[in-house]
Amino acid sequence: MEVVIADSVEQVGAVAAAKVAAVCRAATRRRGAPPVLGVATGSSPLGLYEHLAAMVSAGDLDLTDASAFALDEYVGLPREHPQSYAQVIARTVTEPLGLAPDRVHVPDGTAADPEAASREYEERIRNAGGIDVQILGIGANGHIGFNEPGSSFSSRTRIKYLTERTREDNRRFFDSLDEVPTHCLTQGLGTIMDARELVLVAQGTGKAAAVAAMVEGPVSARCPASLIQFHRFATIVIDADAASGLQDAEYHRSVFDHKPDWQRWDR
Ligand code: F6R
Repeated sequence: MEVVIADSVEQVGAVAAAKVAAVCRAATRRRGAPPVLGVATGSSPLGLYEHLAAMVSAGDLDLTDASAFALDEYVGLPREHPQSYAQVIARTVTEPLGLAPDRVHVPDGTAADPEAASREYEERIRNAGGIDVQILGIGANGHIGFNEPGSSFSSRTRIKYLTERTREDNRRFFDSLDEVPTHCLTQGLGTIMDARELVLVAQGTGKAAAVAAMVEGPVSARCPASLIQFHRFATIVIDADAASGLQDAEYHRSVFDHKPDWQRWDR
């Protein structure tokens, strides 16, 4: 796990996008095939997506023929609801990055048989050759995807309930708490750990406790993100506020001390 403390929220997006772009280029070189991205919704990765979109527009990153798989979707919201993750991903990822809509996949939260829809989603990921780089945020309670505390470390895509904490946190996107769905389909922790690289972004003091538990805490189902400690290629990009709960922050320093050449993160 490589932890990079950026100098600002703006720099979190820039550094994380540079990392994602480097992984995409390497994946294309290595496999001779377009990259497969895993994409998160929520506020945390928005800057990252903006920076990626700028690289695509400038011709620095080729995502023609790339495909993408969303982490999760609400159960019970119609696909056309503005807060369904199908719509959020279309607005924040598919359009700005110029991806072909038929290569962008979101779990089907309207499926009559959620278990069958979950199995089918896993199969689609497998058929695409697996995910090259999974972009993640982290919940204030340590969830990744919607794998809430207590989730099985080997879980695959499935239907899950949302905790009251998560529903409260996501209430800002709806008119009232009652409108926030109670269930979701989410990639499992096992699915996320299968991605060849992980890039997790977090900003603000509201994430400080979860980030500390993920990076320095015991690996525990109480903080599902702590499982990432076992991933071979995980990069955590956070601002100083999100880093403020770390006891050993001196190991991570500022991004420029740490990795002066981060803009050319290819390997
Ligand atoms: C989103 C997702 C969640 C969010 C997390 C943080 O698809 O799976 O794990 O990444 O809840 O959300 P924000 O970024 O809005 O604080």
